[in-house]
Amino acid sequence: MNEELEQIVHTDNVRLGEDEQSVVILDQTQLPNRTVYVTLRTAEELYQAIQQLQVRGAPAIGICAAYGIYTLARQMEEREYAAFARRFHEQKEYLNASRPTAVNLSWALNRMEGVVTAGAGQSLEALLDLLGRECRAIHQEDIAMCRAISRRGLSLIRDGDGILTHCNAGPLATSRYGTALGPLFLGREQGMRFRVFADETRPLLQGARLTAYELQKAGIDVTLICDNMASIVMKNGWVQACFVGCDRVAANGDTANKIGTSGVAILARHYGIPFYVLGPTSTIDLSCPDGDHIPIELRDGAEIREKWYAEPMALPEVPCYNPAFDVTDHTLISGIVTEQGVCRPPYTKSLAALFGRPPLF
Ligand code: MRU
Repeated sequence: MNEELEQIVHTDNVRLGEDEQSVVILDQTQLPNRTVYVTLRTAEELYQAIQQLQVRGAPAIGICAAYGIYTLARQMEEREYAAFARRFHEQKEYLNASRPTAVNLSWALNRMEGVVTAGAGQSLEALLDLLGRECRAIHQEDIAMCRAISRRGLSLIRDGDGILTHCNAGPLATSRYGTALGPLFLGREQGMRFRVFADETRPLLQGARLTAYELQKAGIDVTLICDNMASIVMKNGWVQACFVGCDRVAANGDTANKIGTSGVAILARHYGIPFYVLGPTSTIDLSCPDGDHIPIELRDGAEIREKWYAEPMALPEVPCYNPAFDVTDHTLISGIVTEQGVCRPPYTKSLAALFGRPPLF
């Protein structure tokens, strides 16, 4: 493995500060031009970092929030259990409001709160110790899940294939390998070669700034395209599969991912190209029946009007509609690749089976 590939695949982009009173993140808003690590100490700093996408990608947000609530718990002054649990809940709800769509955020925070609930009657020191173990476990499990997803995803493609991806679901968005990009990094380690087309991913350019960066550094053949070029690339016969990540998978298989993903799936169907969603089971929300029930984050129109430009590209008074995610209908998805296996339609059955449940409807 080349050194840069090793570094990209195996670096922790979110970690606990040495004092265990802070979280250290690689600031993704500075990439690809600057490698800057930021230390987050307060609830407000954690909230801002998630909201402003300094840390982003569904699993990475969950890991950051888990470490974050642990470090906040260590700073709490409440010494009595009921007051501590109440304050913990307030902080948890606050962090949970930072972004609405990726279910990994509430999943990780709920896991942490479960420790507090189960720990009633324990000393505060014992409780903090258990919380420390839980957030580290969430991180370690994500590493293992990404590795397993990468193996399963790799089994779906062949050496030399062209893969189209949207947004960024690589190591920066997760731990280590990533989800949608994981099979490509794993394949590269094994000497395989792929030709990857990375949609730039308007408006925040995660594809250009992050995906193209990760793949290029790792020595994987990547070509950056604008989002509206996916059709021609598919028509040219250059794409054998689409791999994308996910922020929330509903019980019927409808999947929220970065805005523009559903368009890629519609194009893939038109050209007869398999379209795969890759993500850990922590991104599956069986309490959400279908895509209509997934909350979609709306962001500031300034991200469309003026961000990235030397001067604004639209009049300030022009209204903008800036949804951060869209939902891909389950009928367009060839398979949902999790660490436990590749789920195939009907998803009401295959997704429920992952959790040992009968089909929900
Ligand atoms: O707004 P972002 O950059 O957090 O959106 C991220 C995505 O849509 C990713 O594809 C998704 O979180 C999966 S990351 C493994």
